Amino acid sequence: MVNAWLGRGINFGNALDALGDGPELALDERHFDELAKAGFDTVRLPVRWSAHAEALPPYSIDPAFFQRVDAGVGAALGRGLQVVVNVHHYHELCTAPDEHLPRFLALWRQIASRYADHSGRLCFELLNEPRGHLTADRWNAVLAEALAVVRDTNPERTVIIGPAEMNSPDALPALAVPDDDHLIATMHYYAPFEFTHQGAGWVPGAERWLGRTWGDTADENAVRDDLAKVAAWGRKQRLPLFIGEFGAFSEADMSSRARWTAFVRAEAERLGMSWAYWEFGTDFGAFDLELAAWREPLRQALLDDRDPTAGIPR
Ligand code: BGC
Repeated sequence: MVNAWLGRGINFGNALDALGDGPELALDERHFDELAKAGFDTVRLPVRWSAHAEALPPYSIDPAFFQRVDAGVGAALGRGLQVVVNVHHYHELCTAPDEHLPRFLALWRQIASRYADHSGRLCFELLNEPRGHLTADRWNAVLAEALAVVRDTNPERTVIIGPAEMNSPDALPALAVPDDDHLIATMHYYAPFEFTHQGAGWVPGAERWLGRTWGDTADENAVRDDLAKVAAWGRKQRLPLFIGEFGAFSEADMSSRARWTAFVRAEAERLGMSWAYWEFGTDFGAFDLELAAWREPLRQALLDDRDPTAGIPR
């Protein structure tokens, strides 16, 4: 079962998806070694294809950039990991879907044919966090078209689809699930946002949330309720579920971050969901690049096999 293989994952965020105005992760073979050694099953590789392709037809992807993605995919597959490749930060598509749809489809045509012969451990995720003018209705139509393009060359590859409203779990009920036997549904979990995004420079007003901790019974119940709703939707749709991103920003206190991470992970696993932590080595980082070492409380929260919530001080 592909979803079970996805199991425990981590995002190589701010690498091939970098916006150029924040911290960046240089993809390095050694990072893949660290993941595999630590016990992760999956790498989610966000890719900002739209910044590396022609603006006009045939919208060719820059060959040198394609090779960088190939290297990431190869590094993951070569270590026996699963790898999820997506289209990340295509904001122009969300702002002007009609204008950008042909380009979006052309990107997928190129990506899908490039990797058509790759292992089934490579999964495609159609679009990270649709938003703006990609409302649920519009996104449902765009998603169906993109899936059809992928299916032309990859009839059985696992494809991951997520809802509008930035992959919010609340938007799952509005997701129209195509009739297809090789789909996994995804959503992103960052609740409570005031905790996970405290101090995040790209969120207006986030400095007001600094100091917010996490971990009382009401906090836990809220996560339990949120994920139970997601699981119920998945059962109704008969779709496996993958939490493609969850994490708490580095400005939150480490013990709350570890508690939240452990709790979300434990609930996800109890409900049979696979997951990928946001992210490896930058501003949510589970790995400290300077020390070349895992941040132990986060590593334990993500990977320890005993109850990950046990023994974490409140
Ligand atoms: C975005 C990142 C952001 C993260 C948490 C991701 O989808 O690509 O830029 O740091 O979500 O907000």
